[in-house]
Amino acid sequence: MQTRPLAPNSVIGILGGGQLARMLSLAAAPLGYKTCIYCPEDNGPAIDVCHSHIVGDYGDQAKLKQFAAKVDVITYEFENIPASTIAFLNQLITVSPNLKSLQTSQDRLVEKDYLNSVGATTAPYANIATKQDLDNAVRKLGLPAILKTRTMGYDGKGQVGIKTMADMQQAYDLVSNNSSGLDKPNCILEGFINFDLEISVIIARDAAGNVAIFEPSENAHKNHILNSSTIPAQISPDIRAKACQLASDIIHGLDYVGVLGVETFITTNGNTPIIINEIAPRVHNSGHWTQDACYISQFEQHIRAIANLPLGSVARHSDVVMHNLIGDGVALASDYAKQANAKIHLYGKQEIKTGRKMGHVNLLFPLDSLIKT
Ligand SMILES: Nc1ncnc2c1ncn2[C@@H]1O[C@H](COP(=O)(O)OP(=O)(O)O)[C@@H](O)[C@H]1O
Ligand SMILES: [Mg+2]
Repeated sequence: MQTRPLAPNSVIGILGGGQLARMLSLAAAPLGYKTCIYCPEDNGPAIDVCHSHIVGDYGDQAKLKQFAAKVDVITYEFENIPASTIAFLNQLITVSPNLKSLQTSQDRLVEKDYLNSVGATTAPYANIATKQDLDNAVRKLGLPAILKTRTMGYDGKGQVGIKTMADMQQAYDLVSNNSSGLDKPNCILEGFINFDLEISVIIARDAAGNVAIFEPSENAHKNHILNSSTIPAQISPDIRAKACQLASDIIHGLDYVGVLGVETFITTNGNTPIIINEIAPRVHNSGHWTQDACYISQFEQHIRAIANLPLGSVARHSDVVMHNLIGDGVALASDYAKQANAKIHLYGKQEIKTGRKMGHVNLLFPLDSLIKT
């Protein structure tokens, strides 16, 4: 692993051309870096703002080779890049986060096994290959429960909530018809966690093993999609410290370089107040608030980590509420534009679709003004 800082004017390769790659590109520029985007589409949020791009499938080795030759380090904006793509590129050039981190987070079963192996508590879970497995797991874990595809799920896609036995048919259908393309058992049943709130911890680690942790955010979902993040979260100092310690244990165990999102449930009705839901090996939607409430954003932090620059400060100068602008909700941007404390981020997507993340807005408030007593 190279540990010298990447020289100015170096090119950072990013797999994926969506809004996360866009905001990574925008954060790379002030540090003097250019980005080259690799993705299957010939347009999109990141392509509007990058230095160069290559259109190619993730399995196209000739194009991937061309990409590796153009860049000085590679990262990715989402965990559903095929592991074989990262393994191939890694023979040619450093890819951060590493293959183990990608493989761990792209399969919910591997992920849960890993989280438990480093001492984190997860929802109880069972691997589901057949309808019989599902019957057995429901008997063991009880209801309510959630059946999820092991791979390729996001924004609640590939999930069936099982409240009562009446929901079993839909669950059987997911077991037999899920399209993740895996030639192996590919669902997981999770016991339902009756959480008080959801927080996430955005943590960064550099190649030398230093970590920097942003203040946890309190997240609210609507239709399984993140709707808002509020900072600070209404959690005790003890919970905050424990959540941060768990995030550290998780990131060190992966020998991870870059920014990692750790989605966490906080509950008062059980023996364990902190239950880790899932990890994302990338910058995370619940960390977008850092763009305007911190001196260094999660995007700059990720670029710093993979470029071997020192990790930046995680200090926060404002309280903040981040609202996602989803589907038609993007129309609210013009109202927010009249508000002095609103910082708007639009992703430049041409087509508005239901549930599509079109942008977000960070509403800034004086430090400590959002703390409820
Ligand atoms: N075991 C669970 N118990 C209770 N709620 C859950 C559970 N798993 C997921 N959820 C809810 O569904 C949301 C999406 O699930 P998640 O596993 O994070 O999938 P995705 O990959 O779509 O983000 C979570 O943020 C949480 O609100
Ligand atoms: Mg999630």
